[in-house]
Amino acid sequence: MALLVVNDLRTEFKTDSGRVQAVRNVSFQLEQGEALGVVGESGSGKSQMMYSIIGLLAENGIVESGKILFDGKDISPSQFAKKKEYDEFMREIRGNSMAMIFQDPMTFLNPVLKVETQLIEPMLNHTDMTKEQAREKALDLLRKVGIPSPEKRITQYPFEFSGGMRQRIVIAIALANNPKLIIADEPTTALDVTIQAQVLELIDDLKRESNSAIIMITHDLGVVAKLCDRIAIMYGGKIVEIGTDKDIFYNPKHPYTEGLLRCISNPEDDDEKSLTPIAGSPPDLLNPPKGCPFVDRCEKAMRVCKDYEPEVTDISKGHQCACWLLDRRAVKQ
Ligand SMILES: Nc1ncnc2c1ncn2[C@@H]1O[C@H](COP(=O)(O)OP(=O)(O)OP(=O)(O)O)[C@@H](O)[C@H]1O
Ligand SMILES: [Mg+2]
Repeated sequence: MALLVVNDLRTEFKTDSGRVQAVRNVSFQLEQGEALGVVGESGSGKSQMMYSIIGLLAENGIVESGKILFDGKDISPSQFAKKKEYDEFMREIRGNSMAMIFQDPMTFLNPVLKVETQLIEPMLNHTDMTKEQAREKALDLLRKVGIPSPEKRITQYPFEFSGGMRQRIVIAIALANNPKLIIADEPTTALDVTIQAQVLELIDDLKRESNSAIIMITHDLGVVAKLCDRIAIMYGGKIVEIGTDKDIFYNPKHPYTEGLLRCISNPEDDDEKSLTPIAGSPPDLLNPPKGCPFVDRCEKAMRVCKDYEPEVTDISKGHQCACWLLDRRAVKQ
C-alpha cells in the first residue's frame, strides 16, 4: 500500500476579498522511499498543498474536502470533530513519522535554545530513549549531516552557525525519529549557490541511506532532476502533470511543463529573458478560470479550454496529464 494517498484535496483561504482557492482538487500517491518533486511557479499552491497534508495551514486556511491517508491512517482534517483534536494528532505525527524542512531554517529553530536541546527533545518526547541515548544519537546525526566537531557544536546556539550549517541542523532534527516522510519546502533557496549544492548532495545521500520518502518543493527543475523519482507539475492550484523524471523530462505532455523545460534547456545562457519561462501571469486564485487554468498563457489553447476543465488523461502507467490536447473528445480548434 502507498505511504501517502491524497485524493481530491481542496484548500481555501478566507480573506476580506473572498476565498482564495489555493489547492484545487489535487490527487496523488507516494510510495515508501520514493522522492517526489513538486514544481511550479510562485503562487501555484505547492506549499499550501503540503501544509494541508501536514496540518500547518494558516488560521484562515480550510481543507474544504478531500481524503489524506498516511501510513495506513486516515489523517484528513474532516476526520476530527474538533480542530484541537486534529492539531494534537498532527503534532504527534509531525514529531514522529512526518518531518518538515522549511526554506528558512530560522523559522524552525528556536534562537534561545541550544542545538542539543532542539535535537534531543523530539527523541525524548516521542520515543523511550534515555537522555544519554538521545545525546549519542544527536551527535551521530550531526556527524551524518556534516557538522564538524559535533561535541563542541552541540552546545552552541543557532546564531553561532552559518545559514548552510543551520539548514543541516534542521535536517538532523528532521531525521531524529527516522520519519517515513520528509517534506522539504524550498530547502536551499535561502542559501548561497555552493552551499545549496552541498545541502542537496546531503539530502540525496540521506535519501539513499534511509528508506524515508521525500517530497521536495522547488521552483527549480534542475533540483528535482537530480533528486526525484517522480515529478508533479503544479499550476493554478492543480497538478497539471505528474510522471517519472523520465516522463517529465523526455516526454512532457502539458504545454506548461514544456514551457518550464524550455526555460532550463540552456543553463549556460544567463540572459534574463531566458529565465522567464512563459509570458503572462498566473491565474487569480480568488477567481480562477472555469476552464483550464493555463488557457490564457497557452500557445496551443483551443476553444474548449476556456470553458471546460480538462480531465486527467493517462499517458502511461504513472504518467498523467490534464490537458484537452490529449483528450480525444476535444474538437481541435
Ligand atoms: N494565509 C493565506 N491567506 C490567503 N491566501 C493565501 C494564504 N496563504 C497562501 N495563500 C495563497 O495561496 C496560493 C498558493 O500559495 P502557496 O504558498 O501554496 O504558493 P507556492 O506555490 O508555494 O509559491 P512560492 O513558490 O512562492 O512559495 C497563493 O495565491 C497565495 O497567495
Ligand atoms: Mg511556497
